[in-house]
Amino acid sequence: MNVSATDRERLPGLLKAMPKAELHIHIEGSLEPELIFALARRNGVKLACDSVEALRRAYAFTDLQSFLDIYYAGASVLLTEQDFHDMAMAYFARAAADNVVHAELFFDPQTHTDRGVPFKTVIDGLTRACDAAHHEYGISTALIMCFLRHLSEEAAFATLEEALPYRGRYIGVGLDSGERGNPPEKFARVFARCRELGLHLVAHAGEEGPPDYIRSALDVLKVERIDHGVRCVEDPALMQRLAAERIPLTVCPLSNVKLRVYEDMSRHRIGALLDAGICATVNSDDPAYFGGYLNENFRATFDALPQLGISQAHKLASNSYAASFVEPSRKREWQSELDALFERP
Ligand code: HPA
Ligand code: ZN
Repeated sequence: MNVSATDRERLPGLLKAMPKAELHIHIEGSLEPELIFALARRNGVKLACDSVEALRRAYAFTDLQSFLDIYYAGASVLLTEQDFHDMAMAYFARAAADNVVHAELFFDPQTHTDRGVPFKTVIDGLTRACDAAHHEYGISTALIMCFLRHLSEEAAFATLEEALPYRGRYIGVGLDSGERGNPPEKFARVFARCRELGLHLVAHAGEEGPPDYIRSALDVLKVERIDHGVRCVEDPALMQRLAAERIPLTVCPLSNVKLRVYEDMSRHRIGALLDAGICATVNSDDPAYFGGYLNENFRATFDALPQLGISQAHKLASNSYAASFVEPSRKREWQSELDALFERP
């Protein structure tokens, strides 16, 4: 479908102003190089790079693993409750500027507990920032704890055990880190336990891993949302299923280009996902590493894909509310705000 000239003119303003829910943001991936250096100085941590510029230059990734190596090294500066608070507040300031009204944040407890940082330090810092985000910016928030899939299921169970005393502070669990060779079924038992506990369930699947990983995340882990999931386009039957069962995909366009899932943005398949009736959303993943926060993801995607216009912008924002884990009345409020914005001449 071609997009009219008037629509093209209205689009940049609408993309910025739309109220949005962000559902796929690793809070450790929002650590900007400047903050990494400031925290390293504050905590006396030695870094491999000697300047902010050198660190930024190291962000030339060839695949997911080459990113993860640098991402885990960056997170090593986080030691105190204040560090976790400051990191999350820096993200919330950016999110507020992008008209994010609701954010569901991933955090990776094992990245910190394995370095001797107590789970309590992590969750206290993040919880304090979430409360402040609500007061300062009116952003509603939720935390989702991710298990690192390159580690064992026993390690995930141990993390769950540590997290149980704080059960009211997070709404669900996810699965992240290196996908290849770490299929969802490796975590079948721990996800079954989390399900019994009434936690929401999500998992990264079909980013670098094959469409079958998306199937097993649904059938074995019984997740409610798939993070990334873009490789479903290789499997038309799976696409039909995702659409029919209304399984949302939290797509991260700039991440996909930086990690070479697509050669460039013009090859991204988000348009095909929407055309198939899939509840796709746009998210930033690790914005400090991938070149932009939420609005920059929208801008880069719509700039590169001429088939995306006003109706797709409206759909992507609506999908972000629909796919969130908030009560229906809040979703309806955001939807009314969105509809009013798009109806204005
Ligand atoms: N994929 C998998 N694991 C991750 C990512 C990602 O994009 N970001 C942070 N951990
Ligand atoms: Zn991710």
